[in-house]
Amino acid sequence: MGFVLCTGALSCWNMFVLLIPDPEVLNDEFSFKARCSRTEMAGECVNEGKEVLQSLTVTVGATVPTGFEHTAAEEVQEKIGAIARVSKDRGRIYFEITTDHLHKVHHLKSVDNLFVVVEQYDHYQFKETKEEALLDLQQLAPVLPWNSALEVWKINNSLKKKRSRRRGAAVPKPKPCDTSETENPQAEPDETLLKEKPGSACPEQEPSPEDSDIQETEAKPLKFRVTCNRAGDKHSFTSNDAARDFGGAVQEFFQWKADMTKFDVEVLLNIHNNEMVIGIALTEESLHRRNITHFGPTTLRSTLAYGMLRLCKPQISDVIVDPMCGSGAIPLEGVIEWSNSFFLSGDNNDMAISRTVNNINHIVKKKKDGGSTSPGLSIDTAQWDLCHLPLRTSSVDIITTDMPFGKRMGSRKKNWDLYPSCLREMARVCRPGMGRAVLLTQDKKCFTKALSRMGGLWRKSHTVWVNVGGLHAGVFVLRRTAAIFGTTPEDVREPHMGCESQEVNMEEKVQSARSE
Ligand SMILES: C[S@@+](CC[C@H](N)C(=O)[O-])C[C@H]1O[C@@H](n2cnc3c(N)ncnc32)[C@H](O)[C@@H]1O
Ligand SMILES: *[C@@H]1O[C@H](CO)[C@@H](O)[C@H](O)[C@H]1NC(C)=O
Ligand SMILES: *[C@@H]1O[C@H](CO)[C@@H](O)[C@H](O)[C@H]1NC(C)=O
Repeated sequence: MGFVLCTGALSCWNMFVLLIPDPEVLNDEFSFKARCSRTEMAGECVNEGKEVLQSLTVTVGATVPTGFEHTAAEEVQEKIGAIARVSKDRGRIYFEITTDHLHKVHHLKSVDNLFVVVEQYDHYQFKETKEEALLDLQQLAPVLPWNSALEVWKINNSLKKKRSRRRGAAVPKPKPCDTSETENPQAEPDETLLKEKPGSACPEQEPSPEDSDIQETEAKPLKFRVTCNRAGDKHSFTSNDAARDFGGAVQEFFQWKADMTKFDVEVLLNIHNNEMVIGIALTEESLHRRNITHFGPTTLRSTLAYGMLRLCKPQISDVIVDPMCGSGAIPLEGVIEWSNSFFLSGDNNDMAISRTVNNINHIVKKKKDGGSTSPGLSIDTAQWDLCHLPLRTSSVDIITTDMPFGKRMGSRKKNWDLYPSCLREMARVCRPGMGRAVLLTQDKKCFTKALSRMGGLWRKSHTVWVNVGGLHAGVFVLRRTAAIFGTTPEDVREPHMGCESQEVNMEEKVQSARSE
């Protein structure tokens, strides 16, 4: 096993860094990019000298919604049979996998992004000064154990090719290296990097005939970028500095061609205090938007929706309701994964309802087009007011919803009316004893208060703290008590008060409140 390293001079250098604005990422993050006009065989170089491999064991890392690390670890155990190591409250989990099971990682629903670990340091000693620390990172690049991770990247690539062939889609041919291409206007050229680097040329290799289709896409030098994610206040450098200098060293070592947007390999540099992980991305884009085509102002991440549903532990033939479904992220995720349960989604806003209907229809159509003989989904949608649900008392097994936070949606003031009414009506439709609710809200104070007045109907099981688009929110897991609705002191209170005030079209409000 192993690969021949090619070192060689690049005929031109032009690197710059670019900020990736991502509201979900609180810490600074960005990438390194370089461009050159040289077309050489760096991709092939990685390939050469490789023997037919036995399956390798590698560590795979996954980013998950912060707070759902344990939920994700549970899914990994269930679907892959591996015990995941949890980086608590950091939105990351790690597990070992053999390459013959690699395809399974793409079936995980809790994960946003996947990567294969090149090297991991729990206590990395970052040097005191910026110059020393960055020099250290540069010197690290050539001595890292890249082989297995690159092998996994290649295996993943072949999985991807197989899939696109099966779908009958054309495998896109790489475009020739083009220096005249327009570059991102946000990017700043970095003068310090516009210098020639020494080195020897990459030995030209004849393509092996049996590899001809891989050859077609890999004859060009591999393109790459480095994305650095840094958190912690004890570093003398920024993620920008780290991505650029580490990236420069990676480029020099592999003779890859750096490209911010059309990269083949994405090298990840994750730094959290004195923990550092170097990885290679196995996902091209975050999976959190899967299966949703019509987005609303507060569409929930599918991965978070999945996490919430897992906390409900859906059983066969359970009736599962999202009474404030918005664009339907939760019930849609639910009906795809738990097709043996029945889902009901509703909202009082007509625009939200039409989004949900469109999202459902899109999936049904996709299934039909794919030749499915049972394209229907066990889900229905209704426009309703949460405080007057058209559902029979004690008829629902699970309620799971993402409540208006009162920030991006609704208002804090209204929540004081809405939340108690909401908990009461949910208690009415939910089966005593067995029923459960998993509710997401950022208005923790209001929710906790409302809940404390409903002690006879709901028992809090636990709370999972999550990060929703940078907001600290709680997922409250509740159990319906055995009390029959209508017999506890809290039912007697004037019902439906809060809901009348919710009749204003909230969607309009949202537009003006979004910049909060
Ligand atoms: C945070 S959003 C839900 C977003 C949703 N999870 C998604 O993925 O799009 C809250 C939703 O509650 C709805 N809502 C507010 N008050 C309501 C009420 N009284 N009855 C029904 N829905 C209501 C709003 O229209 C909004 O769509
Ligand atoms: C890895 O393979 C999966 C599944 O085939 C594919 O969706 C994904 O884009 C591949 N990752 C990369 C970085 O190409
Ligand atoms: C949902 O999205 C995933 C990831 O893109 C895809 O593999 C899956 O087929 C989709 N499911 C349906 C039912 O369309």
